[in-house]
Amino acid sequence: SLMDKGNYRHFMAKEMHEQPEVIGHTLSRYINPSARKAAIEGIDLVDFAGIQRIILSACGTGYLAALIGKYWFEKYARLPVEIDFASELRYREAPVSDKDFALFISQSGETADTLAALRYCKQEGARVGSIVNVPESTIARESDVFFQTMAGPEICVASTKAFTCQLAVLAALAVQAGRLRGVLNEEQEGALIDTLASVPGYAVQALKCESAIEPLAHKLSRATSALYLGRNTNFPLALEGALKLKELSYIHAEGYAAGELKHGPIALIDETMPVVVLAPYDGIFEKTVSNMQEVAARGGKIILITDQKGADASVDTEKDLIVLPDVPDFIAPIIYAIPVQLLAYHTAVFMGTDVDQPRNLAKSVTVE
Ligand code: G6P
Repeated sequence: SLMDKGNYRHFMAKEMHEQPEVIGHTLSRYINPSARKAAIEGIDLVDFAGIQRIILSACGTGYLAALIGKYWFEKYARLPVEIDFASELRYREAPVSDKDFALFISQSGETADTLAALRYCKQEGARVGSIVNVPESTIARESDVFFQTMAGPEICVASTKAFTCQLAVLAALAVQAGRLRGVLNEEQEGALIDTLASVPGYAVQALKCESAIEPLAHKLSRATSALYLGRNTNFPLALEGALKLKELSYIHAEGYAAGELKHGPIALIDETMPVVVLAPYDGIFEKTVSNMQEVAARGGKIILITDQKGADASVDTEKDLIVLPDVPDFIAPIIYAIPVQLLAYHTAVFMGTDVDQPRNLAKSVTVE
């Protein structure tokens, strides 16, 4: 049954491994690969050509999906994005109007702060939408337009497959918005849709790095504190990596935009500090490598998550490596989420914590 761990030791392991399949299900609802088009039902309820701004809001891991969504909406649809934690948006009396589309992201669809923020935006006149995994939930029901993630039931408190399915929906929406706003032409849309359709295949490959991750997780499990660094969409993933590590293993961890290293966290670097660097070989790879060298010069223990080209281009720096397939920039955040999840999972397994039910945490926070 769906509530069964199958051959896996934890629901988290099962849910991570379901990702290629459930991302595929989700994509099949939002893209038409043979027509090479985004195909989003209910999209006509959102005036993407007319709105001036999109507001993205959520809690926890959903918020980090929103943060990646911001990079996509800005780049592919040239749409200004306002983003905030739902717990902040609901109280800060932000100006919101009918020129905004407010989009809320939630696995459960019942998070109290997210629901309150949605009600606030609706009352201020914005069209409200949601990306939710549970179709009969309150947030889904109260939305003008609802985009379902097809992740299936997620049991582990820490979100994995719901997160990557949220990313899949956001990516498809950004392409559709870009097309409707006249930013992307038919050919550009087609190329992005082809890329998006290739996510499940890349996810299968990314899961294969699990055996390389286990010994690194063993080392990480001896640390008392860890730092995660990334630029661009790898910045939200650095936050997600740190969040997962602290939730599951109780090791203190912080995620930082790599460019901010010198403005604070560099003071913490010594031989006892593991630093996880997320850096595919893209246009800003060299910038991140120079941050990595600053860490190495202070004795920090680096785990670099990159592709083969990135590994080849950084041979001079001492580090451990997690090598992923060479993925197109657009979909890299969906694929790079996987080793980040696996690293936190295996670290927690080595430490013997309750992976599926970490202390003090709840799957769904329906009270403030
Ligand atoms: C809790 C869960 C997280 C989740 C967050 C938001 O903190 O432990 O995994 O990201 O709530 O929940 P939602 O259901 O709104 O995505």
